Amino acid sequence: MCATRANDMTADADDRGVRVVVVGKGGVGKSTLTAMLARSLARLGAQVIAVDSDEQRNLGATLGIDVSTMAEVVPLASNADYVEEKTGARPGEGSGTMLRLNPDTSDVVDRLAVNAPDGVRLLVMGGVRRAGGGCLCPENALLAATIANMRLRRGDVVIMDTHAGVEHFGRALARGFDRALVVVEPTFNSIQVALETARLARELGIETIDLIVNQCRKDGDVANALAYIERLGGFEFSSVTGLPFDEGVRTSEPSVGDLADDSPLAVAVRSLSRVLLHDARGAVDAVERVTVSG
Ligand SMILES: Nc1ncnc2c1ncn2[C@@H]1O[C@H](COP(=O)(O)OP(=O)(O)O)[C@@H](O)[C@H]1O
Ligand SMILES: [Mg+2]
Repeated sequence: MCATRANDMTADADDRGVRVVVVGKGGVGKSTLTAMLARSLARLGAQVIAVDSDEQRNLGATLGIDVSTMAEVVPLASNADYVEEKTGARPGEGSGTMLRLNPDTSDVVDRLAVNAPDGVRLLVMGGVRRAGGGCLCPENALLAATIANMRLRRGDVVIMDTHAGVEHFGRALARGFDRALVVVEPTFNSIQVALETARLARELGIETIDLIVNQCRKDGDVANALAYIERLGGFEFSSVTGLPFDEGVRTSEPSVGDLADDSPLAVAVRSLSRVLLHDARGAVDAVERVTVSG
């Protein structure tokens, strides 16, 4: 049994919808969680735009999009014509070029998103390049504008899968997010990495930072994770959620769509998505907190 604790889970929800970034060490379950949440949120009625910013680009397959469709997708960051049309410079250019830093990307979903099951739309961004020294390359300028300006109705959700964390983000990109889900396994190592990411996310101005302890196998895994966090100097997460280890995930790979609706992880993720949606909508009715059995 993995317990859940919730402090103040008020996300910055407004008419723009809510923008969530999923971070954590490689292999902890970010893509799995992003895909499951995206589909679950869509089934609950939200318009969901899933964004893949990992170079490996496996979110599409995890969502259940077929391999041949994904093979034809050109990531936004390497779509030279689109980048140039919007920012005035081609990918790889930047220094010495006048960039439009806040281009109108309101057409990005219509033009470049791919349909995924349950009505989810997927935008493949490509990797985020390190935006050091205040310099912003055209790809990152475009990605930042895309996230910040995506037109959403209240209750709609943008959820972005990442390679690991926000360390490659410039302020401009991070500022677009209201909420970070920091995913860990109940291991010291993954928590150490996650804490660095969580602290950076806070520094970059992301308001709500939730801890997700994934792949819990036994009672006490969440408590152990919290004890590691204390040993590492502590961090005030907005909420803590445990998700069970579920053998079914591996057998249903690559798509989370084949995971049974009543499997332990699917049930737990559904509860988590109700909480996210509740916060995104700013609804007043009480929503059950996530409690999962593993
Ligand atoms: N709760 C879970 N139970 C069992 N296996 C899981 C769970 N979450 C993720 N996995 C598995 O762990 C592996 C890594 O997951 P993935 O989502 O690709 O991680 P990341 O995107 O963080 O690198 C995959 O094989 C995935 O199926
Ligand atoms: Mg991944």
